[in-house]
Amino acid sequence: MVEQSIWMQKVAADPDHSSWFIERFRSMARAGDDLAGEARLVDAMVARRARILDAGCGSGRVGSALAEAGHDVVGVDVDPALIEAAEQDHPGPRWSVGDLAELDLPAQGITTPFDAIVCAGNVMTFLAPSTRREVLRRFRAHLAPEGRSVIGFGAGRGYEFSEFLADAAACALEPDLLLSTWDLRPFRDDSNFLVAFLRPA
Ligand SMILES: C[S@@+](CC[C@H](N)C(=O)[O-])C[C@H]1O[C@@H](n2cnc3c(N)ncnc32)[C@H](O)[C@@H]1O
Repeated sequence: MVEQSIWMQKVAADPDHSSWFIERFRSMARAGDDLAGEARLVDAMVARRARILDAGCGSGRVGSALAEAGHDVVGVDVDPALIEAAEQDHPGPRWSVGDLAELDLPAQGITTPFDAIVCAGNVMTFLAPSTRREVLRRFRAHLAPEGRSVIGFGAGRGYEFSEFLADAAACALEPDLLLSTWDLRPFRDDSNFLVAFLRPA
């Protein structure tokens, strides 16, 4: 067993946390908000019908948009309520409950490595800190040789960008490109958000 994620600690402290999150995105979808910015960027960097892992997929916001674009999507999240919502709202992709620190998709019969792993919505900052490197190691293990992992999270959430990049390097993931937004603005020293494109070293 790995240390419980910060997200599941929040769920334990507030049983309404998951339903609040689900409803938040359902209501934004009803309002016609743009929920697919991250998916558009990932779609632009892969071939058609790519194999994509949505790591920390929540209720399926990013992975469902990628599936609609024709990709073969697997989504994994530690919160069973969010996976249930993903299955209800976005049938099609394979949605699976699991802790990313224990990610082992070949053991579930998913043996083809991924062209892209997308990890959006501050997932990295909701991991148990003791599991961060293990999660990055497992991303690396699930990537195709030419695959890339795209990870986005904000500053001021307890995980310094420099520490994250050092953790990635320790897990044989090298930055290809660093951006500060999902709409392609460059990363600078004072950026308050990081979108890191990492490739196998
Ligand atoms: C703010 S939500 C973002 C969800 C989704 N990526 C999105 O952008 O809509 C953070 C997600 O990280 C997931 N998460 C946190 N720690 C995790 C872990 N160790 N393994 C799998 N999922 C995790 C949570 O369950 C939650 O769904």
